[in-house]
Amino acid sequence: MTSSTVLRVTPDAPERAPLERAAELLRAGQLVAFPTETVYGLGANALDPAAVARIYEAKGRPTYNPLIVHVPSLAAARRLVTAWPPEAEALARRWWPGPLTLVLPKVAAIPGAVTAGLRTVALRVPAHPVARALLEVTGLPLAAPSANRSGEVSPTTAAHVARSLGDRVPLILDAGPTTIGIESTVVDLSGDRPVLLRPGMVSRDDLAALIGPVERARSTAGDEARPSPGMLDRHYAPRARLVLYDRPDAPGVLGELAAARGKGMVAALYWKEGIPGADPAVALPSDPERYARALYAALHRMDELGAAVILVERPPAGIAWEGVRDRLGRAAQP
Ligand code: TXA
Ligand code: MG
Repeated sequence: MTSSTVLRVTPDAPERAPLERAAELLRAGQLVAFPTETVYGLGANALDPAAVARIYEAKGRPTYNPLIVHVPSLAAARRLVTAWPPEAEALARRWWPGPLTLVLPKVAAIPGAVTAGLRTVALRVPAHPVARALLEVTGLPLAAPSANRSGEVSPTTAAHVARSLGDRVPLILDAGPTTIGIESTVVDLSGDRPVLLRPGMVSRDDLAALIGPVERARSTAGDEARPSPGMLDRHYAPRARLVLYDRPDAPGVLGELAAARGKGMVAALYWKEGIPGADPAVALPSDPERYARALYAALHRMDELGAAVILVERPPAGIAWEGVRDRLGRAAQP
């Protein structure tokens, strides 16, 4: 596997040369991986269907799963939608730039290739200075899902991107580890009532404070459900089998340890109580912000070490942990 070019960029004072190189590729319909404050994105010109098709191909992403479009400002977002309800105004004013994505009815200029044929588009104004500078230099809306092969744990460093995508992406802008650490909160504002499609570090309490209670989309298929396309997939999963535990002496945990003896490595990630006998056992922070920032790097690390099983202590209940619990719940699906 040949490798992509990795260019270092200073996170809070991005240099011109790597941005110009990235913009050149993006204008030519090529892909560029770049940092956002949540995770690294795999970017393409959102107005060019052929460029967007390259994203799906590089990720091995099912074509029914639509992409997020990144724009530099609230004004730029408004130009890409046909409706801008008061909820959008309130949320965007408070949280943009930031880790919040809004789903709204799209204008015709956004190709169906970006939205998987839907009449809505997911929009986000990222806060990362490199993402912002890239949007400014290119002057293009950038479609960008997380920069990993479909179904894998999202990348929070350039090395994670390179390991997952290899030469499928010609250029990676490397600005070091991301600060939020899990993907943005996604809220659908295109229907009668706001629906939380994907929890993240902008919590349901944060949303409720501005627009009232927001119901959570059911991720199970069913008549009453209106799930986000792609939400039914197993996602965010490491190569190792991930098992959640509540107590270190639970039968499931002891069974995993016994079954793995002599076969493969059993790792543990905990915030309160580790697992005697798991190796390595890695402590994660016990507050949700720092936990989210550290989680994906820890999962990537366990995979690199060749863990067969990763035992993960279930994070606390509470709204602030909802994003983290969602990702771990998906990763733990059989
Ligand atoms: O933090 C993030 O959101 C990162 C960074 C790179 O911005 N991006 C990201 O993209 O996580 P991706 O493609 O991995 O996740 C996009 C999510 C999917 O769950 C998709 O189903 C949903 O957004 N989505 C996109 N467009 C949608 C639409 N029109 N209607 C409903 N859901 C949509
Ligand atoms: Mg993703």
